[in-house]
Amino acid sequence: MPESSPLPPPEEKPVFVRHMFADAARRYDRMNRIMTLGQDQRWRRLVVEACNLPSGGRLLDVATGTGDIALEALRQHPDVWVVGADFTREMMRIGQAKDPEGRIAFVEADALRLPFPDDSFDAACSGFLMRNVTDVAAAFAEQRRVVKPGGRVVCLEITRPAMPIWRDIFHFYFFHIVPRLSALLSSNRDAYTYLPHSTLQFPRPPGLAEIMRSVGLKHVTWRTMMLGTVALHVGEV
Ligand SMILES: C[S@@+](CC[C@H](N)C(=O)[O-])C[C@H]1O[C@@H](n2cnc3c(N)ncnc32)[C@H](O)[C@@H]1O
Repeated sequence: MPESSPLPPPEEKPVFVRHMFADAARRYDRMNRIMTLGQDQRWRRLVVEACNLPSGGRLLDVATGTGDIALEALRQHPDVWVVGADFTREMMRIGQAKDPEGRIAFVEADALRLPFPDDSFDAACSGFLMRNVTDVAAAFAEQRRVVKPGGRVVCLEITRPAMPIWRDIFHFYFFHIVPRLSALLSSNRDAYTYLPHSTLQFPRPPGLAEIMRSVGLKHVTWRTMMLGTVALHVGEV
């Protein structure tokens, strides 16, 4: 795969991303388990714990996709009200099938224009969203807007390790192994190159924390996992 493959220009990115996930929806969960060596559900558990939800609270899972973070929230807190928002219907349809009792409110929405009033949730979280948006600060600002004062904004995302040796291994894995795995995931050739390239352009954990602070989130902390390849950021409104 050529490493110089361009990402879509910003004005085409939302359509490109939506098509890619619509195409991948049926195989998304299985590929997630394979590509993360079975770690992804553990990370989602940590996302929900980091949300620090009160009893009977309200959680917004932005870019809920097939709903795994939303489902984990209900597993940890059966009494919370969970909204899963995403702009790809095909992904949410898979999530709806995993929630036959309809406990999650799935809403078609753009992460950059959330259709919710200010201060309407106790926490907002996202898993593997931020690499896909055209404006990371605007996405965090929207989550900050809809979360009540004192509530949390939590972000799980792929990141590049700082240690040179792990950086090389990460690079090899994402540029040589992932594209081959992705070939199983999607018939869309662009998707093979999108994932690794989107990680190269994405800010490292300190930079992402700075973006969160820039939109007014407080007490921003992060931890990295899986040899520094995945980061969990937490900020307070
Ligand atoms: C990698 S999937 C992650 C799904 C889920 N959060 C998880 O943990 O598996 C990324 C999701 O982000 C959604 N997405 C990307 N950009 C979006 C945007 N601007 N607004 C809403 N959803 C978006 C895609 O449709 C896709 O379902």
